[in-house]
Amino acid sequence: MRLFVAVELPDEIKDELARAIESLHPSAPDAKWVPRNNIHLTLSFLGEVVEERVAPIEAAIRNSLAGHTSIPTRLTEGGAFPSQKRARVLWVGLDDDQGSLAALATATERGLEQMGLPPEARAWTPHVTLARFRTPADVRPILPIDVQPIAFEVPRVTLFRSRLGRPAPRYEAIAQVPLGS
Ligand code: 2AM
Repeated sequence: MRLFVAVELPDEIKDELARAIESLHPSAPDAKWVPRNNIHLTLSFLGEVVEERVAPIEAAIRNSLAGHTSIPTRLTEGGAFPSQKRARVLWVGLDDDQGSLAALATATERGLEQMGLPPEARAWTPHVTLARFRTPADVRPILPIDVQPIAFEVPRVTLFRSRLGRPAPRYEAIAQVPLGS
């Protein structure tokens, strides 16, 4: 099954991002927008994993996140990967001044590496994907994205199963790892 590790976002944050998405619809007709309920912060993408490995993977994540505590953050600015001029992914960033979210992603990756899963080659940056483009798009005209810098807490990490489908993949939480307080 297809797995990834992510942070679920509070309703207030998903509402704010869904509102931003709604207002951007007319300006980017080629974008494939993320449905409100699928909005999340990815820490690590595992890809296809056989079912027997799910329990040990869950244990490895739990183990590697022991000692990590709940993280305060807030929505920041919009941006794009790989560039604003030829965007494939349009996102809104999360504040990580203290590097705690990056440390969470690194710890998760380490745990998964110990399970023999290949590490992500690209550097991790805290972003919440709003849209993807099949053909690279110039998103400079739609930036900056109008989002309120709403603060929130990250109290847990979730292992998700992704079932690919149309119009959007379906994500199912299969394990949750609480962070300490
Ligand atoms: P991103 O959208 O936050 O960039 C579930 O598919 C999540 O895993 C996506 O939100 C995506 O992150 C992330 N991901 C990373 N690499 C991926 C890949 N090769 N295929 C699909 N999703 C990937």
